[in-house]
Amino acid sequence: MNLKQMEKSLLSWRLACLMVVMMFLSMAKPVTSQTSSDRNSTLMRYYCSQYFGMNETYFYQNLNTTLSSLRRQLLVNRVRYALARTLLNGESVWGLASCRGYVSNTNCVACFDYAVSQLRVCGRGNGAHAFYNDCDVRYENNNFYADANIRAGIVICGNITSPQQTEFRKTVEGLISDLRTATPRTSDFYAASTRALPDRSGTVYGIAQCNQNLSQSVCEDCLNSRYSSLDDCLPNTNGRAIDNGCFMRYSSTPFFGQNQTTNITPLLWDGNSNNKRSIIGGVVGGVCLLLLVLAFVLWRLRSKKTSRSQQDKSTGSTELLQGPARYSYNDLKVATENFSDDYKIGGGVFGEVYKGTLKDGETVAIKKTVMASTRGKIHFDDELKIISNVHHRHLIRLLGYCSKGPLLFLVHEFMDNGSLDQFLYGDKSRNLSWRQRFEIIFGTARGLAYLHEQYHVTIIHRDIKTSNILLDDELQPKIADFGLIRLLPEDKTHLSTKLAGSLDSGYVAPEYAIHGQLSEKVDTYSFGIVVLEIISGKRCDDVIDDKSVNLSLLDHAWNLYENGTHVNLIDNRLDASEYAAEDVMKIIEIALMCTQSQVSARPAMSEVVTLLSDKSVDEIPPVRSTFHEDDIKIPIDTSISLSSNATASTVQVSGR
Ligand SMILES: *[C@@H]1O[C@H](CO)[C@@H](O)[C@H](O)[C@H]1NC(C)=O
Ligand SMILES: *[C@@H]1O[C@H](CO)[C@@H](O)[C@H](O)[C@H]1NC(C)=O
Ligand SMILES: *[C@@H]1O[C@H](CO)[C@@H](O)[C@H](O)[C@H]1NC(C)=O
Ligand SMILES: *[C@@H]1O[C@H](CO)[C@@H](O)[C@H](O)[C@H]1NC(C)=O
Ligand SMILES: *[C@@H]1O[C@H](CO)[C@@H](O)[C@H](O)[C@H]1NC(C)=O
Ligand SMILES: *[C@@H]1O[C@H](CO)[C@@H](O)[C@H](O)[C@H]1NC(C)=O
Repeated sequence: MNLKQMEKSLLSWRLACLMVVMMFLSMAKPVTSQTSSDRNSTLMRYYCSQYFGMNETYFYQNLNTTLSSLRRQLLVNRVRYALARTLLNGESVWGLASCRGYVSNTNCVACFDYAVSQLRVCGRGNGAHAFYNDCDVRYENNNFYADANIRAGIVICGNITSPQQTEFRKTVEGLISDLRTATPRTSDFYAASTRALPDRSGTVYGIAQCNQNLSQSVCEDCLNSRYSSLDDCLPNTNGRAIDNGCFMRYSSTPFFGQNQTTNITPLLWDGNSNNKRSIIGGVVGGVCLLLLVLAFVLWRLRSKKTSRSQQDKSTGSTELLQGPARYSYNDLKVATENFSDDYKIGGGVFGEVYKGTLKDGETVAIKKTVMASTRGKIHFDDELKIISNVHHRHLIRLLGYCSKGPLLFLVHEFMDNGSLDQFLYGDKSRNLSWRQRFEIIFGTARGLAYLHEQYHVTIIHRDIKTSNILLDDELQPKIADFGLIRLLPEDKTHLSTKLAGSLDSGYVAPEYAIHGQLSEKVDTYSFGIVVLEIISGKRCDDVIDDKSVNLSLLDHAWNLYENGTHVNLIDNRLDASEYAAEDVMKIIEIALMCTQSQVSARPAMSEVVTLLSDKSVDEIPPVRSTFHEDDIKIPIDTSISLSSNATASTVQVSGR
C-alpha cells in the first residue's frame, strides 16, 4: 500500500483510483515498475550482508526454498508472521516474514513479494533484511530469531511539525508509552491504538509490534528503546522506529482503520506486575508519586542522551551496511558500576573483561583495552568495521565500542555459560557428554573455517585456546577475540614481548613461535591442540607422567597414536556407552593431522570441517612433529619480527 500518500490525502479520489490501478497491476504481475516506485516511498531500510555463502548453487536453492515456504505460509495459511529454514548441504538459510497487524492478507503478500524483489539485489550475500511500513523480511545463514536490539535502532522522523506542539507531544507520548506496555502482553505481540488530542482537533494513530519468537521481557526492552527513539521525533507529526526485533510507529494521519484497534486498557492494568501495585499501596501515595515522577524525569533525560549517541537518526531510506555501534562511556560505566571488580569476569594482557547490563536490559561483555594513541584512526575504524560485520553462529558478535582517551571498550554479546576451559578443567568443571564435546569441536571448526575462507577478509585468529571458546545456552561454541590482535597498539609487523608472552605457548604453532611465520595454519595447529584437550579433559601444558617420562599432552597423544593405543587418551569421565571408540580415534587422528610440524601438511579448516562431517575418514596418516618441546618456547626478552608478507591476509593455503 502506498502509505505516504495516504498520509497526505486519505480517501481522496486520486488514491481510490490509484488503489484500483494497483490492485489491477498486482493481479497481473507481482512487481511492476508502477508499484515499485510507490513502494519506494515506504521503504525504510534494507541491509545486505557483504559476505557470501560457500556454494552458490546450494545457497540459492536453499534461499529459494526458504522464501517460497514463507510466501506459502502468508498466502495459504493467511498468517502475518512466518518462519522457515532450509539447512541442506551446509548452506543454512533461516527466514522470517512479518506483516503489521493491520495489513490485509493481500497487502501482506504484496509487501513480501516486493521485499523479496528488493532483496534479490543482495545476490549471494548470506543475509539480508528489508524493513517497510507494512512488513519486514529477513534471512540469514544463522538462527537470528532471538535478535532484538541489534542495529542500535533506526528512527525515521517526519519533517512537519505539529501546530499544537505541547499538546501533540503529550498525547503521542501517552499513546506510545501505553503501547509499549500493552504490546508485550498481547498474544501476538501487536497492538494498535488511537488517541484524540485534548481539543478534539485531531487524532494520533500508533502501533507497536514485536517478533513473536522473542521473550516477553526482550519484547519490552526492544519497545522501550523504540519509545525513546520516537520521543526524539516529537513534535513532528509522524515517526517510525525499528530494530531487528520490533517496530513502532505513530502518525497524525490514519494508517489503519478505526475498527482495527486493540483494546489496550485492560492490558495496562490487569497484567501489571504485582510489585508496582504493592509498592504503590504500601508507601504513602504522595511521596511515592513524587519519586516516580522524579525517576521518570531522570530516566527520560538519560535515555534521551544515549539515544542520541546510539541512534542512527535519519530521514533517508536505503542504506547498505553499517559500522559498529558506538556506546557512550557513561552508559558503560553505569552498566558495570564504574568498572567495579564485582563485575570483572576475566582479564589478561589484552585487558579486563566486565559483565555489564545496559540501560535497555541487555547483558553484554565489555572488554577494556588500551588503544594505540597515535596510529591511524582510519585504520582502526576499518578494523572495527571488519570485526563487527562478522556474523556467524560460532563467532562471538561485536556489538559496538566506545573509545575514551587511550582506552578502548569493546562490547560483545555475553555468554552465560562462560568459556570451555571452565567446563573441561576449571573450578566449574562439569562433565560434558561426548555429543556435547563433538558439537563443540565441530562448531569451532566451522567458525574458524568461516574466518579463514568464507568471510571477505581472511582473519587469522592467532590465539585459539579453550578460554577463547565460549559456550552459549545450548553449549554451542562461540569463538571470542578474533581480529582483536589487529587492533593492538604494536606495529602490525612486530610481535612485541608483551604480546608474545600473552600467547599460551602450548597452543602456538612452532613456525609462528620461532620464525613468526603467520598463516591460517597457525589456527589449524591451535585447533588441533584444543581438540586433544576436549577429548582428554587435560590441559595442553599439564605434564603427563608416562612411564616416569614427563610429556606434554601433544607428545603423550603422539606416543599413544604411534602405539595404536590412542583410545587411552579419551577422558575417563566420559561414559563409554556414549561413543564409538573408532569415531573418537578418528577425531584424535584429525587433531594430530592439524598439529603436524610441516605447515603444508596441516589441513585447511574447511577440510577439517569436511573430515569431521565425513563418517568414512580415510586420509594420509599424520606425521609426527620434528620440533622439540624446548624449541617451542617463546622468547620472552626479544621481539620477533614478522616479514610483512606473512601478515598480509593472502597467505596461500596449500594442500587442496
Ligand atoms: C527505487 O529505489 C531504488 C533504490 O533507491 C532505485 O534504484 C530505483 O530506481 C527506485 N525505483 C523507482 C521506480 O523509483
Ligand atoms: C557446489 O557443489 C556442487 C556439488 O558438490 C558442485 O557440483 C558445484 O560445482 C559447487 N558449486 C560451486 C560454485 O562451488
Ligand atoms: C532462485 O530464484 C530466483 C528468482 O526466482 C531464480 O532466478 C533462480 O534461478 C533460483 N535459483 C535456484 C537455484 O533455484
Ligand atoms: C518533507 O519530505 C518530503 C518527502 O519526504 C518532501 O517532498 C518535502 O519537501 C519535505 N518537506 C519539507 C518542509 O522539508
Ligand atoms: C517461534 O514462535 C512460534 C509461536 O510463536 C513457535 O511455535 C515456534 O516454535 C517458535 N520457533 C522458534 C524457532 O523459536
Ligand atoms: C472495518 O471497516 C471497514 C469499512 O470501514 C470494513 O470493510 C471492514 O470489514 C471492517 N473490518 C473489521 C475487522 O470489522
